[in-house]
Amino acid sequence: MHTPAELSAQHFDSFGTPALVFAAPGRVNLIGEHTDYCDGFVLPAAIDFKTLVAISQRTDGRLVVQSVNYSERLDEVLDPFLDRRFRDLRAGAETHWADYIAGVLWILRQHGVPVADGFSMTVEGDVPLGAGLSSSAAIEVATACAVLGATSFDLPLEKTAQLCRAAENQFVGANVGIMDQFVSCFGALDHAVMIDCRSLQYTLVPIPSDVRIVICNSMVKHSVAGGEYNTRRAEIEQGTAILHLHRPEIRALRDATLEDLDRWGSEMPANVFRRCRHVITEDNRVLAAVNAFQHGDLSRFGQLMHEAHVSFRDDFEASCPEIDLLVELADKEPGCFGARLTGGGFGGCTVNLVAAEQVEGFTQAMRTGYKQGTGIDCEIYISRASAGAHQIVPE
Ligand code: GLA
Repeated sequence: MHTPAELSAQHFDSFGTPALVFAAPGRVNLIGEHTDYCDGFVLPAAIDFKTLVAISQRTDGRLVVQSVNYSERLDEVLDPFLDRRFRDLRAGAETHWADYIAGVLWILRQHGVPVADGFSMTVEGDVPLGAGLSSSAAIEVATACAVLGATSFDLPLEKTAQLCRAAENQFVGANVGIMDQFVSCFGALDHAVMIDCRSLQYTLVPIPSDVRIVICNSMVKHSVAGGEYNTRRAEIEQGTAILHLHRPEIRALRDATLEDLDRWGSEMPANVFRRCRHVITEDNRVLAAVNAFQHGDLSRFGQLMHEAHVSFRDDFEASCPEIDLLVELADKEPGCFGARLTGGGFGGCTVNLVAAEQVEGFTQAMRTGYKQGTGIDCEIYISRASAGAHQIVPE
């Protein structure tokens, strides 16, 4: 990964214009899975992995983007390209890395941001792709901040997060919630961010200094662009609609209790009932976990992570054998308070809360155990909770 100064120099070499550089991080979710689009609670943290976008404005109406990761260059007339790509994606075209950038330009254009003159961009990221660590939110938010910065367009950060989510929903076609884009905007050093996904009010929760967030990548690829993620959302909507019939004030599962589910759950197909039970219990776990963190009760926090994993695996059925093995191995390790599948599910990474002085032994045991059990080399990242999106000003 290049430094921002190197990326800026590369941009200048390619385009002959100086660039502004913006960064936006990926995230790991400590607890609160599939609750965000149910107006519920989540507790993610921004991570040390990010996307950098170097940007300069053009005058010829073109969008020229070079991706360092893919060694590819996109060069199109901006306005017709956005419209064409929107139509192609609706017609079932496969997603391409540049769609996240195009989607953000498409939504910003709708909101009056002057994009028609075009941009040159140089993009590079180190968020592992398809690992459930929100590489897509990182590129969306970095792009939005870059375009807003380059055009000096004033948009509140909360609105920026909402538009990035809308780009992913409406342009890319992944029906995701607000968590990833929000924490990519509002992340803070050494803090997790408890988000109320209905009001978008958030609380910064300090991560105790004697633990580390250890992320184990199962290397089983995960994608939220379509597929199982959207199926789960549809199941949740089906269950919510049944509860709403009986108690109209239930607008989202955030408003429902386990008693509601006990009373009317028999009207749901069994799988829908279990999906709803996961979400309702998960919301309670997030609130309890924040409380545990605030009281320095790491054992309680870890126990809630464990319960969250079991619920995600059995009720939400979003885990896979490789991830379950990672959790099982972690649970046996001294110094590991809790482990669970993080992100959208169906592969990707586990998040582990590990005592700082035991991290080395933990990572070694995880590598060996996972290799023995699956034949796969897992990747392990020890990440500090990091700052949200920002411009990088040259020294
Ligand atoms: C993905 C989505 C988020 C959230 C999680 C599951 O990361 O982008 O909005 O729904 O899955 O918690």
